[in-house]
Amino acid sequence: MKIAPSILSADFAHLARDVEKVEKAGADLLHVDVMDGHFVSNLTFGPLVVQALRPVTSLPLEVHLMVSDPAAWVADFAEAGADTILVHEEATDHLYGVLQHVIEKGVRAGVVINPGTPLSSLEEVLPLVDQVLVMTVNPGFGGQKFLTPMVDKVDRLYQLRKARKLHFDIEVDGGINNQTVKAAADAGTDIFVAGSYVFGSKNVGDAMNSLREAVK
Ligand code: DX5
Ligand code: ZN
Repeated sequence: MKIAPSILSADFAHLARDVEKVEKAGADLLHVDVMDGHFVSNLTFGPLVVQALRPVTSLPLEVHLMVSDPAAWVADFAEAGADTILVHEEATDHLYGVLQHVIEKGVRAGVVINPGTPLSSLEEVLPLVDQVLVMTVNPGFGGQKFLTPMVDKVDRLYQLRKARKLHFDIEVDGGINNQTVKAAADAGTDIFVAGSYVFGSKNVGDAMNSLREAVK
C-alpha cells in the first residue's frame, strides 16, 4: 500500500516542517488539494505552493485539482513540479482532452470521481490514465466521514481494471483512518490519501504505521 498524506490538514504556517516530518516517517507521496472556491466551497493552494514545496521534498507531488476549469491550470502545475495531476470528471466537458494535455506535459495523469458519479462515466478514459481516484467523501473539506458505499465502487473498478487488462493505480481520498482503511484495501485500493488522520495525530509516523498494520 502507498500512503499519501494530504497537506490540507498540515500546519500551513510550518508547511515545510510538516512535509519533512511525513517524508521521514515513510510517506510514499504527497497529496496537494487545490480548491478554487467554485468547484468546491473552499479555497486552498495554487501552483506557487507546489513550486515552493518542490525543493523541500523528494516525495512525488500529486495535485488533486478541485477547480472548475482544470484545463486552465494544467500547464502551471506541471511547470511548478507536479508529478501527477488528478482531474475531476465532473469539472470538464472535455475530460479526454484535459488528460491528453496532462500527458503531453510529461506528467502522470489521473482522473477523479465524486461519490455520486458512476464508474461508467470513465469508460473511455481508463486506457489513458495512470491513476483513478475514487472520492470516499464529498470533496471540499478534510475530516469528513468515510462513505462506506464507495468500497463497492472500488471493488467494481478493481474488477474492471482486471477485465480490461489495464494498469492504473486505484486511490481513495477522504475519511481514511485505521478503522476504514482495511475495507478499501481489501476492495483493491493501491494508494490511500489521509489528511486529518495523519496530521491530526501526535506522531505522524505512528499514524501511518497504524494504517499499514490495519490492512494486514
Ligand atoms: C477532500 C480532499 C481530501 C482531504 C482528505 O476534498 O480531497 O484530500 O484532505 O482529508 P481527510 O483524510 O481528513 O478526510
Ligand atoms: Zn484530495
